[in-house]
Amino acid sequence: MEKDARVEEFDKICEVTSDKATVDVTSRFSGVIKKLHYQANDTAYVGKPLIDIDVDEDGESEDNVLDAPAPIEDSETASNAPDGFMANPSAKDDSPSAADEQEKKGSHASLATPAVRHLSKELKIDIKDVDGTGRDGRVTKEDLYKHQDMISSNQHTTQTSGTSATPRQSTGQQVEMPVPLTQNQAQMFKTMTRSLQIPHFVYSDEFDITPLVALRKRINNGASKSVTSQKLSYMPFIIKALSLSLQDYPLLNSRLDTTSSKPTIINRSQHNIGIAMDTPCGLIVPVIKDVANLSIKEIAAELRRLQSATSSSSLSPSDLTGGTITISNIGNIGGTYLSPVIVDSQVAIVGVGRIREIPGFDEEGKVVRRSVVNFSWSADHRVVDGAVVARCSEVLRGFLEGVEGMVLLMR
Ligand code: COA
Repeated sequence: MEKDARVEEFDKICEVTSDKATVDVTSRFSGVIKKLHYQANDTAYVGKPLIDIDVDEDGESEDNVLDAPAPIEDSETASNAPDGFMANPSAKDDSPSAADEQEKKGSHASLATPAVRHLSKELKIDIKDVDGTGRDGRVTKEDLYKHQDMISSNQHTTQTSGTSATPRQSTGQQVEMPVPLTQNQAQMFKTMTRSLQIPHFVYSDEFDITPLVALRKRINNGASKSVTSQKLSYMPFIIKALSLSLQDYPLLNSRLDTTSSKPTIINRSQHNIGIAMDTPCGLIVPVIKDVANLSIKEIAAELRRLQSATSSSSLSPSDLTGGTITISNIGNIGGTYLSPVIVDSQVAIVGVGRIREIPGFDEEGKVVRRSVVNFSWSADHRVVDGAVVARCSEVLRGFLEGVEGMVLLMR
């Protein structure tokens, strides 16, 4: 975001970086930026102004100040909440702004947000070549990714069809190109480097979830349409089953405090389950709060809300913080086994592989079709021993292989 640039209400004005992800902070006003109180990568102070905006209102201009947002109530991550902006009307300015001039040029580049412009530089795409699908034709991150895909598939077609006029000549030399980390990668770098301090105990087992597959099919075919008309994925069942298992093994929902000379385990009353999500911007881990007090239907609704907030970049910092344990379901993409990595505010993470159809035996020894899936746990071996993980995994197996057990415990 530059001085004298035009900003519209709800435009992204900067990115707030937390331990696990980057959240966009949007503007409450339309107008022209008069002053930037910080440069990129500076630390902004809570309650202090971020930028001054010369606001156009009813033909008049007015300065407003966007303040740095209030901190979220979570000491585990150092992020700021985007809400809590305050407007302080002050001096008037009737002079035509540079942003007006810029707008007259009508280029998509002037409409795109700084994050999008930054991404376009990283992807080496000239933003003017991209058709914008956002408001007023502005270019969004998705437009850039689509454009990039289009370029690569064109290149692929040209290469594979052999119609390239100038085939790439090998120079016989290795060429190395430095590429800066994206915001998400930079954050992942920090978080995962801290995770290296944690000795991981890894445990994996296969569950036969044939009854769950059948149950989900019945629900999605309308068997429970008086209760829900929404399609359910496997995740709400897995999330609920994990929470029920944690009731017997609260250690796996705790965190390890190593800030004092005497390490302490901090038990936590709520099961706030982080869900690893694959997004165009990389890995994001929004959190479903207090799962123990949610039904499977409510979990499904919250998961849908988080997925849609992820795609519209409208996750709040509170959606991204406070996790007590994480589930990483990579199975919708592929893979059977995982070795998931714990973040330092948690002591365990569960990875889910792809559900596979295999032949198995029924009680009479006949070969039948079975749906199986691997669950892979990582736990902090400084405080969690393997037997605890194995026992908790057995309880989880019980809930997922015999879904009716979950029903009995539902409040
Ligand atoms: N095995 C096979 N299929 C699976 C599956 C699994 N383990 N998990 C999900 N699926 C299926 C779903 O059932 C759905 O298929 P359907 O439409 O036929 O029912 C399809 O994959 C898409 O599911 P999705 O919309 O992604 O919903 P979800 O609730 O199952 O998963 C997320 C939600 C957020 C977990 C998932 O979208 C995602 O991002 N996974 C990647 C996580 C990741 O990157 N982990 C690595 C972190 S390092």
